[in-house]
Amino acid sequence: MFISRLNSRYLLFPLPLIAAVALFQGAPAPTSAQSKPVLFSRDILPILNKECRSCHVGSAAPGGYSVETPEKLLAGGRHGKAVVPGKSKESTLIKYMTGELKPLMPPGKPLSMETITLFRRWIDEGGKIDSMVETQGKAEPGSGATKPEKTTSIPPVPQVGAVKQYAPVTALAFSPDGTKLAAGAYRAVRIVDPKTGKILRTLNGPADQVLAVAWSSDGRHLAAAGGMPGATGELVVWDAVAWGTPKNYQGHADTISGIAWKPGAMEFATSSLDKTVKIWDAATGKETKTLKDHADPVYGVAYSPDGKWFASGSGDRSAKLYSTDNYSRAVTVFRHGDAVTALTFPKNDLLITASADKQARAWPVTTQPVENPLRSHGEGDVINAVAASADGDTFVWGASNKRIKVWNRVMDKHREDGPTLADWVYAVSASPDGQTVAAGAGDGKVYLWTQGEGRALGKEAKPMIVEPGKGTN
Ligand code: HEC
Repeated sequence: MFISRLNSRYLLFPLPLIAAVALFQGAPAPTSAQSKPVLFSRDILPILNKECRSCHVGSAAPGGYSVETPEKLLAGGRHGKAVVPGKSKESTLIKYMTGELKPLMPPGKPLSMETITLFRRWIDEGGKIDSMVETQGKAEPGSGATKPEKTTSIPPVPQVGAVKQYAPVTALAFSPDGTKLAAGAYRAVRIVDPKTGKILRTLNGPADQVLAVAWSSDGRHLAAAGGMPGATGELVVWDAVAWGTPKNYQGHADTISGIAWKPGAMEFATSSLDKTVKIWDAATGKETKTLKDHADPVYGVAYSPDGKWFASGSGDRSAKLYSTDNYSRAVTVFRHGDAVTALTFPKNDLLITASADKQARAWPVTTQPVENPLRSHGEGDVINAVAASADGDTFVWGASNKRIKVWNRVMDKHREDGPTLADWVYAVSASPDGQTVAAGAGDGKVYLWTQGEGRALGKEAKPMIVEPGKGTN
């Protein structure tokens, strides 16, 4: 572990002594940079957000400890007060960081001495919380503080405005029998024949940008999700045999970003920018559960092929895994360095997450805490979408650098590079047999690509175009 000169000084003079000296002097010693008061929103909060928040939020926060509100953050969990003002030694927050209480926090990834010292100073100086919003701007030199975290860099939802323009394709899903491909763009869903690229029908989708489409596992229903940003989520569900009048449902307090249909059941789950996940009875359109375990917008949801596991991924950098018995508790948290943008279960025992940290990671599905992914591969830019074929042998991602990449055997070494498209890739899907891969891009096109041939085969559907007053065609 790296110990800076600053730290070694602290090691020589235990902190309470320094704090006491500062107290006697009545003011921070002018020549000593270390004794500048620690400011929670600037020096402490960015570290809590980065290192602790992905686990310690929600109704099922581990150890009963949530860092979501000032009250909860100070109060602590089952093992007593996290922060005893003026007494860092008695504060469980410090005891878990140093390993005096087990398990060490954050699990498997000890904080540096410098960081722990900063927390100690904050508590010994009174443990005040000035704000729960990270103070922007550079930390004062010498305060030992880290710079505030940059905000996440996932691409914005494409804005379709007043002029005639391409409608980015932001949602894609092969039907379970592989004969149809649903593509979502601005207020519209197209059904495309994946063999020819021909448009079979165009459906009026939910409000605004369609961010997700999903088929029921029997292929009889198709759901599309969108909504009014900052106001409400909207769902449209079609009978995918008769294609009659669809059912419209509203829920969530913001756009719906993801939808997943539980295999073999009339149940689906939605994720929203309102930070929650909802479980729905697909027969009645009633919400049956709301999961509030994420601290930031939730970007995607997925079920394992056997329907026993469910996972959600969020801007809080974590993916959470639930048993679908009752969805009552996130059993494991998988972490990234930035927002989790998408996720999929290629097999019952494997979860793949993609992130704005430009990585995709494969995780074992288990009820035990997992520190390290089984595999991790990087792309040159934010990975926006991931999908797996039903046979589990093909896995594909699409990224902001216009690349799609196809992996065989679930992200081991055997991979094929897909084509570079003309624009950002927002959505991907793989046919059930893994032979065909589809990508939706910012240029309004759906690209279809057959494995092994390394080119788009000329089977791109004609681009979706939005015209003011005319909608999307
Ligand atoms: C990967 C998930 C994870 C991360 C990240 C994490 N924790 Fe924890 N934390 C846990 C789990 C699990 C427990 C419960 C351990 C137990 O009691 O079995 C826990 C327990 C605690 C407790 C004890 C609560 C109590 O009173 O029982 C404190 C305090 C705590 N964590 C602080 C932190 C801090 C501070 C950070 C960041 C520096 C952090 N944790 C990061 C998973 C996490």
